[in-house]
Amino acid sequence: MKKTMTTTGGNPISDNQNSITAGERGPVLLQDYQLIQKLAHQNRERIPERVVHAKGSGAFGVLEIENDISKYTKAKVLQKGEKTKLLLRFSTVAGEKGAADAERDVRGFALKFYTKEGNWDLVGNNTPVFFVRDAYKFPDFIHTQKRDPQTNMRSNTAMWDFWSLSPESLHQVTILMSDRGLPKSYRNVNGYGSHTYSLINSKNERFWVKFHFKTLQGIETITNKEAEALVGKDRESNQRDLFENIEKKNFPKWSFEIQIMTDEEAKKCSFNPFDLTKVWPHGDYPMIKVGTMTLNENPQNYFQQVEQASFSPSNIVPGISFSPDKMLQARIFSYPDAQRYRVGTHYEMLPVNRPIVEVNTYNLDGSMNFQIKEPTKAFYEPNSFDGAVEDSNFLEPDLEVGDIAKRYNHRDVNDDFSQPRALFLLMSENQKEQLFNNIKDAMAGVPRDIVDRQIALFEKVHPDYASGVRKALGINE
Ligand code: NDP
Ligand code: HEM
Repeated sequence: MKKTMTTTGGNPISDNQNSITAGERGPVLLQDYQLIQKLAHQNRERIPERVVHAKGSGAFGVLEIENDISKYTKAKVLQKGEKTKLLLRFSTVAGEKGAADAERDVRGFALKFYTKEGNWDLVGNNTPVFFVRDAYKFPDFIHTQKRDPQTNMRSNTAMWDFWSLSPESLHQVTILMSDRGLPKSYRNVNGYGSHTYSLINSKNERFWVKFHFKTLQGIETITNKEAEALVGKDRESNQRDLFENIEKKNFPKWSFEIQIMTDEEAKKCSFNPFDLTKVWPHGDYPMIKVGTMTLNENPQNYFQQVEQASFSPSNIVPGISFSPDKMLQARIFSYPDAQRYRVGTHYEMLPVNRPIVEVNTYNLDGSMNFQIKEPTKAFYEPNSFDGAVEDSNFLEPDLEVGDIAKRYNHRDVNDDFSQPRALFLLMSENQKEQLFNNIKDAMAGVPRDIVDRQIALFEKVHPDYASGVRKALGINE
């Protein structure tokens, strides 16, 4: 027998086809609370989309640690033999929730590991660097990626105006405009923690670390032309690819690797190792294989498990911590702030965000607080009633920081050209051609003075970079 439909209050519904009207032709009565409830719920089906990375796809999986890195970290999730359930959400940055997948953009690579010591979130991208190195510029940068307030259209001029006035963006712009800026599928991208984080071992020694997830499906990309044809037929190409492959049990995998830098090495490093526009060259800081990540389970409900998923760089566990990177510092604030607004005060109580460990805070009340706690006299701290207490065993080692507080001009001291040059020089002739042509496409309609200012930056990276772009644009030297 089929179940009886009910209202949200659990009362049986006698008729779900006809509203209550005064006479056959209407009007409806205000007492038809079932009609009102249905319309009111529909009005509340959407929550604000993420201010960035609004379009995305998610899947659950497992991280398996195969090698012993206990000399660097005491984190349980990173100990040899450990298997940890995870959620990975891929995304594009600029488009809204209904944007097409096959767009040239950075891909988000946000991980939530449900560890035995609470949630560890590593909220990264498919690129190891970023467009800006100071969070003060992040809202400005994002405005250039979103819509013009008047035309309500995206603006190539805004993008290149900002980039050409921000030389620190060159490294990420070069990656975005290269073949890798338009991945074939989410399964074909690498993931990078991007920032420098720290690992802390059982002797409370700190090491600086970069996290890498290298796709075992191989990097595969598509061209602008292929993307145009694809989007015409399928706006959800990456969502479809991920969902269908996991349904077919063709589980995608990534090799989990790290780079390590000691504090002494960091002090001697020729560039600022906490600058998000820089990578650590593999030759100097070799990759260390740690384990394998596999995606093996599709979500049951997209809204509950992907749309409401809330990732934050502030979720760390003992043995993994932050670094002085000023972008990372700002992100530690920004994400939970966004999620209290986007999802709600108690977003961390939702099943997809809830850690697998017991949560012992002294937070009280608040909108939609649905956890019924055992009655206790210990609802403040310190108390005499056996409430949860702090544990100094979890204190991190002291962190040495700079001395004078001021607004340091980051453009005076950093080399914005050497690493984009290293990238340009490792590209094949075919990759360079794609780079020049992708830049040409992306510069459509941009005023000549902005184009010239950007080409002057390419010139500083490498003369061949500038001349290649000029040639693609049909501009004389
Ligand atoms: P390596 O030759 O050791 O490494 C080059 C890296 O570049 C490889 O990881 C390769 O990825 C990646 N790569 C190749 N083509 C592209 C592209 N179009 N966009 C982005 N990445 C690409 O050199 P170094 O470590 O000395 O770094 C040289 C340059 O390589 C850097 O300036 C940086 O731009 C880029 N890079 C460096 C990374 C690092 O962590 N050191 C990470 C990613 C890029 P794969 O092996 O998957 O093909
Ligand atoms: C999403 C802020 C830089 C990767 C978001 C969100 C905010 C935000 C507010 C939406 C969060 C939500 O509603 O759940 C910022 C700020 C930055 C910054 C202020 C700079 C200071 C970066 C960098 C990376 C990154 C450097 C990658 C290395 C992501 C990803 C998401 C995201 C992957 C989507 C997470 C998901 O799938 O839910 N960012 N961001 N962001 N950001 Fe950032």
